[in-house]
Parts: sequence; structure tokens; C-alpha cells
Amino acid sequence: MARASSATLRGDNMRVVDAILAKRDGRELAAEEISELIRAYTAGEIPDYQLAAFLMAVYFRGMTAAETAALTLAMAGSGATVDLSAIPGVKVDKHSTGGVADTTTLVLAPLVAAAGVPVAKMSGRGLGFTGGTIDKLEAIPGFRTALSGDEFRANLAAIGVAITGQTPDIAPADGKLYALRDVTGTIESIPLIASSVMSKKIAAGADKILLDVKTGSGAFMKTAEDAVKLAATMVDIGTLVGRETMAVVSAMDEPLGLAVGNSLEVLEAIDILAGTGGAPELREVCLTLGAHMLVLAGRAADFAAGYDRLADLLSSGAALAKFAALVAAQGGDPAVVADRARLPLAAHRRDVPCPADGFVQAADAARIGYAAMLLGAGREYKGQAIDLGAGLVMRCRIGDRLAAGQPLATLYTSDPAKIPAAAAAVASALAIGPAPAARPRLILGTVTAAGAHIAK
Ligand code: URA
Ligand code: CA
Repeated sequence: MARASSATLRGDNMRVVDAILAKRDGRELAAEEISELIRAYTAGEIPDYQLAAFLMAVYFRGMTAAETAALTLAMAGSGATVDLSAIPGVKVDKHSTGGVADTTTLVLAPLVAAAGVPVAKMSGRGLGFTGGTIDKLEAIPGFRTALSGDEFRANLAAIGVAITGQTPDIAPADGKLYALRDVTGTIESIPLIASSVMSKKIAAGADKILLDVKTGSGAFMKTAEDAVKLAATMVDIGTLVGRETMAVVSAMDEPLGLAVGNSLEVLEAIDILAGTGGAPELREVCLTLGAHMLVLAGRAADFAAGYDRLADLLSSGAALAKFAALVAAQGGDPAVVADRARLPLAAHRRDVPCPADGFVQAADAARIGYAAMLLGAGREYKGQAIDLGAGLVMRCRIGDRLAAGQPLATLYTSDPAKIPAAAAAVASALAIGPAPAARPRLILGTVTAAGAHIAK
């Protein structure tokens, strides 16, 4: 194939057209073509409509492993990179591909830090039906989510854990591309998701990366097969750049935790950390991801040892104490741990009744996330203000038997006018039928550089 040199691509839109044509027709692009495309787009030299056409061509044609790697490296190098080498120990970053009621970071960060593994976490805000850790933390009065680089490193050194919002100078190409993908129907592409996630992880400086790849009704990957493909693509990229990467493939067939919404999810995280409640499924995913993080960090001999150690840190109160230390270190009110009334909760509450006797057959997790957004917990567009005390708490899970009139969920909002549409969304998200339904499998397996281990 003919390959444009970076010199001819730069500032010459005919060369951009060549790249679009090559991808449209299924030819492989050279690494320099991809890196130049990303450089020029990030610099504002290429209009959105050309990149949009390119992204749609990638959506349909896919990318080779070499192209995906080139795209990831170009995005990772589009801005600043974080240097964590001054922090002693193996730094392991965890990233979820996104879901509903995925409160794992709030539990995992203090839990893994309590085991002595430094957790340096950059997190994002919620968009559409998915929540974001930064929004959840801001529900805690006083909590600061924009730490300077110095504060971030100082907190890490002092208490072993820090969580900050992703600054715009980390992988800025991803920020721009993601916004364009969001409005051009090009989110659900394995090479585009893999490069988006891995570019940020590489720029954020961790030594090792643990990915939680979601599959199901509330995930970008609707089938386990696609989730495994996405996981393998990301593991390959991590391996290529010398950062050991492992993926857990887990189910997002229904909300992971019970709470969907910012304050409500903080409350559920505190319940898990305190051992006073929360969804057992959320606890199980946290222990599973955490155990792998301990093994990756060299702090546990094997998965079982890591799992037991973390379960001990939950029951001893050490993980909860680390959470309180994290809250205090970032300016938040650590008394929320014992006095939950300090978290804002919306005043108007309404149960959504089950329409008939029967079993919960299926749930549409994305639609439940959408219902929480309608109540004020999430944003439809970037920058929109949210109601930190709004959301919903699920009162059932797939497989449960319910009688007509029993609550499916409890809605929380500051604006009662929002209740009817949200109640309708929750009701339509749950399929109730006469036949008993099995509970979905939660952890499907793992993918490492050695291959996929997915239970049949
Ligand atoms: N999460 C990301 O960071 N990027 C994607 O493209 C999808 C999920
Ligand atoms: Ca997760």
C-alpha cells in the first residue's frame, strides 16, 4: 500500500483523505500515519468531520494489533505523563470499562492501600448512564477531587492512597476523540475503547494495570466473546509497552451494587467497608479485583492468599479506617463514616412497585442507570450540574421472586416532577415472569499475556 509520510500529511488535508480512504478500503495504516493523524487532530489542524469519517471507518473495518498499538501510543504521548517513580513499591492501577452501580473504586482504593499497596488513582466523571468516581467522591462534604501533582504525591507517600480527577493534560487526544465518538456512534469499537483506556493508563504512570472489563446489558461489550477480545487487545498493548496488564471479565447484566447515584453509592461503599451491608456482588468483585492487584504488586503469593488478606482487612475495620484517612487527607469530612446523615440525600422518595407476581428474569442495567440520570444523579451532556443526593436503590436482583406491589427500587430526587419518567424507566428495565430465573454468573474469568481463562 501507499503510505503517506508525516511530512505530507501535516497541514495537507488531501493526505488525511488518503488515510480515510485506506481505512475505508481495509488497508493497514503505518504507525507514522496514525501518529500524525492524532497529532494534527489534537493540535486542531484537522476538522471534526474528517476525524469522524475516519472513526466510522475504524468502527467498521477494525484495526490490526500494530495499528491499535500505534494509536494508543500516539494518544498516550499527546500530553503530559505522570512520573510515580519516587513512590516506593509497585504501583498498580485499576480501570473498569464502565457500568452502572460500579462502586468498586470507592471500596478498592482504601482496601488495597490498607494492604500496603500504593493506590494512585485518576478517575473521571459520569456521562450518560454510567457514573464516575469523581462525582461520587464530591458527594462527601468538603472532599477535593482536583489535587495538584505535589499534593497527589504527598498524600500517596503519607497514607498510600490518593484519588484525583483526570487533568486535561493527560492524554488530551483521548478527551477530544471520546467527545467526538460520543456524538458519532463510534464508542463501541474494540480498538477505539482499548486505545482510549490504555492511553490514559500508560500516561498515568502505574507500573502494572488491572482492567475490569464488563460485559452485559449495562456494558459497551454486550457479549462475553467481545469482552474477552477487548480484554486481550488491552493486555497485548500493556505487554508491548512493558506494563504487566491483566483483565478480569465480569458481568454487568444488572447494576453491580444496589445503589445508583452519588451519595447513595458512597453509602453503599461505606457499608461494604464497614461490613454492615451493601450488595454481596459488589463485595465479591472488589475482593476479586483487589486480590489480583495484590498478586500483581507482589504482596500476595497467590489469588487465594490475597483474597483472604483483603477479607480480613474488611472485617478488622482497617479498610474503613483507610477510607476515613483518604477522606480527611483530601479535605472531606471523615465523620461521614460513622454519621451517614452528613451525606446529602434527596428529600423526595418513591418506591416503584412490581407489576405482577413472578421472578426477575432480566435487567437492563443501562436503562436503570438512565433512570438514575433522569432523577438528577447523572448528566446528559458534559458539564451539566448534577444532584449529588439523587438516584435510586435497587430492591431486587435477577433471580429474586417478588409479589405484585413489592418494591423493585426506591427512587430519590429533589424534584418530584422527575419521578414518573424514572419510575417508568425502572419498570421497563426489569423483566418479570412466571418461570424461575438463574442468577447470572458474576466473574467470567481472566485474560493475561498467557491467554484467556474463561470458565465455560
Ligand atoms: N472507557 C474509556 O475510558 N474509553 C472508552 O472508549 C470506553 C470506556
Ligand atoms: Ca469495576
